[in-house]
Parts: sequence; C-alpha cells; structure tokens
Amino acid sequence: MRALIGILISLACGTALAAETGYRLDRSPHDPTDLPSLQAGARTFVNYCIGCHGMQYMRYNRLRDLGLTESQIRDNLMFTAEKVGETMKTPMSAKEGKLWFGVPPPDLSVVARSRGADWLYTYLRTFYRDPKSATGWNNALFPNVAMPHALWTLQGELRRVDGRWETLSEGAQPRPQYDATVRDLVNFLAYVGEPAALERKAWGIVVLFVLGILFVLAWLLKKEFWKDVK
Ligand code: HEC
Repeated sequence: MRALIGILISLACGTALAAETGYRLDRSPHDPTDLPSLQAGARTFVNYCIGCHGMQYMRYNRLRDLGLTESQIRDNLMFTAEKVGETMKTPMSAKEGKLWFGVPPPDLSVVARSRGADWLYTYLRTFYRDPKSATGWNNALFPNVAMPHALWTLQGELRRVDGRWETLSEGAQPRPQYDATVRDLVNFLAYVGEPAALERKAWGIVVLFVLGILFVLAWLLKKEFWKDVK
C-alpha cells in the first residue's frame, strides 16, 4: 500500500525513479522539432561518443532530415566513414571495448527507446569522480558503470559526499550551458531511436484532417437518408 502511494505521488509530481538505484530522474526538456538542437546533438555525438559507441541503424546521409546538406554532413560530422551512405559505426571493435572497459560499449541506435530520454538526460549529468573505480569515474544513476565521463571537460569534475554534489573543478561550460548540451545530445539520441517520428506525426495530422472531412460527409449523408423516415 505504501509503495502504491509512493508511485502515485511520484506520478502526480511528474517525476520518476530509476528502478535500480532509486535515484530521481530529471525530466528531459528535449524538443524533437528543434532542428538546431538536433544538429548540435549530432555534433556532440560525433565529437565525444562515436569513438566508443556506434549507431548501426543510422546512416550519415539520413542526417539530411535534420536540415543538413550532404556536404555539411561530410565536412563536419563524418569522421568514421568514407561514403555518406554508410552507417555511423565506431572505429572501436567489440573486442577492444571488452579488453579496455570490461564491457564493450553498446550500440546507441535504440538506447533512447530502451532507457528513455529522462534516464539519458539524468545519466549524462550525474557522473562523479570515484578513486575506487577503474576509470576514476562513477555514476549516480548507473553505479559502477564501466564508461568514463566522456563530457567531463565540458561539465567539470563533481564529487558526491553523503549523497550531496560538490564541484571539484569547473568545466568549459557553466551548468545551464552543460544542461543544454546534454538536452541537445538526448534530443539527437531520441531522434535516432525513431527517425521517422517527425514524419509520422505530420502524417497523423493529415489523417485526422481527412477523417474529419469524411465524418462531416457521412453525417450529411445520414441526415439525407433519414429525413423522410419518422
Ligand atoms: C571511452 C569510451 C566511451 C565513450 C567515449 C563513451 N562511452 Fe558510453 N559507454 C562506454 C562503456 C564501456 C559503456 C558500458 C557501461 C557498462 O555497461 O558498465 C557505456 C555505456 C553507455 C550508456 C548506457 C547504455 C545502456 O543502456 O546500458 C549510454 C547511454 C552511453 N554509454 C552513452 C554515451 C554517450 C552519449 C557518449 C558521448 C557523450 C558516450 N557514451 C561516450 C564507453 C564509452
């Protein structure tokens, strides 16, 4: 009963808890219709993540969806392929990944679907220094994670003392700016998880509109048929 009340309260507050740790998830403020944000997220991904993580379902030329031209993609984003038709693969093999981190870094094509945007938004903002871990990093949402903090030069170094956060060193981005960087990155990961979502929503509106017209026609027809039956 108490658990139920807890769940109801957390639903009512619009918050969620990560099942494994009980760490409270922050709501991801990403906006899938914001193209500059998606472009910024793609840039952060190829600069900071693709060295370890690939996206086997995402082709570089698909990034035209984000309002980029093929030459912009080629010049600014394509570090791991020769042709724009190739997928966004990582140069790291699964074997190397296992050797270096103990776990190969997973493909991130559909991570936004398996983990959810709120989880990703929280995860990428809750790395902290931990001298006891192999990489020197740990994560509040994913305890003993094998991934080092890839964005630490931007966020700076944090430390956790009795559940409270402390700053060890400042990064290149003040907190609101870092949060925006992560928002854009999560926006991109969510887009990659379902690249057709934008298109699908646009079609949904067209379909509703057509159904609306059909409804009016059907109603007029019904009135016509039944007008003499009383
Ligand atoms: C130096 C290599 C490395 C880099 C760079 C890196 N990661 Fe990771 N990442 C890993 C490893 C290794 C794991 C597996 C962690 C584990 O299972 O303990 C991981 C796990 C993850 C997970 C959890 C996946 C899951 O569902 O369990 C996410 C999300 C993730 N990384 C996102 C990112 C993003 C976004 C970036 C770029 C900002 C990034 N990573 C950069 C190595 C890396």
